[in-house]
Amino acid sequence: MSGNGDSKPGTDEAADAVEAERPVAAVGGPEDYLLLAKDLVAGYVPGVNILNGCTLTLSEGEVVAIIGPNGAGKSTLIKTVFGLIPVREGALTLRGSSIAGLAAHSLVERGVGYVPQTQNVFPSLTIEENLQMGVYLRPRTFGTRFAVVSELFPLLGERRKAKAGSLSGGERQMVAMGRALMMDPSVLLLDEPTAGLSPIYQEEVFQRVKEVNSTGVSVVMVEQNARRCLQICDRGYVLDQGRNAYTGTGGELLNDPNVIELYLGTLARD
Ligand SMILES: Nc1ncnc2c1ncn2[C@@H]1O[C@H](COP(=O)(O)OP(=O)(O)OP(=O)(O)O)[C@@H](O)[C@H]1O
Ligand SMILES: [Mg+2]
Repeated sequence: MSGNGDSKPGTDEAADAVEAERPVAAVGGPEDYLLLAKDLVAGYVPGVNILNGCTLTLSEGEVVAIIGPNGAGKSTLIKTVFGLIPVREGALTLRGSSIAGLAAHSLVERGVGYVPQTQNVFPSLTIEENLQMGVYLRPRTFGTRFAVVSELFPLLGERRKAKAGSLSGGERQMVAMGRALMMDPSVLLLDEPTAGLSPIYQEEVFQRVKEVNSTGVSVVMVEQNARRCLQICDRGYVLDQGRNAYTGTGGELLNDPNVIELYLGTLARD
């Protein structure tokens, strides 16, 4: 693991410390990873970079977590990987080939699924219609994929005629994840799937993510429940101010005194 020393997250001190000791978050080249984002620079407004050299790797079969304070750039990183924000500098590859500059629908065709942090279902549509939206690129596969996805999330089959807007927050997350899975992705990008959910539903989502992963889907997940996420993931990245602050296995990060102090709070000491 690598870290940035003793500084407060989201402060100039933290930024200086990260700058002083840039962690080695990726070793090897594009061909060594399923997904590689290397030294990414990206932002929304011309001249203002939100990601300032972010690196993330995903290997086949992994669950990788992204944690960090509000505004650290976690959603921006995921959106950049999914082609929603242009890459200004750095490399972005999938199975060794560059995907920088590709639009989101091209990423979907290449087997990448994305579940946004907010507004990730169509509330006025039924569960079934939401899932149909997931396969609009391949409508003929609906029946086969619906059978697979509703086996993983039985609720989606049982309540297929229910409007998504009538569901609880946890149930909506299942719809959102189900929709992304309709295209049979090999990589799933999840942005805070447990945000706003009760502890019981949070745990259910974590378990479902593990189940999805066990079917062969590699997962990158941004999480606000950092402690629980680090327990279930293979590796994690702590982002701060658009940069990698700490990188390691879930266990390493959970037990790193600096990560605990700066990013996990007292919860991690349980
Ligand atoms: N559409 C946008 N236009 C301009 N700036 C944006 C936009 N979305 C986010 N930002 C800015 O980019 C920075 C990083 O935001 P981002 O949403 O990536 O953070 P985050 O780590 O996902 O935070 P959170 O934990 O609150 O979800 C913030 O300063 C935010 O204000
Ligand atoms: Mg976010």
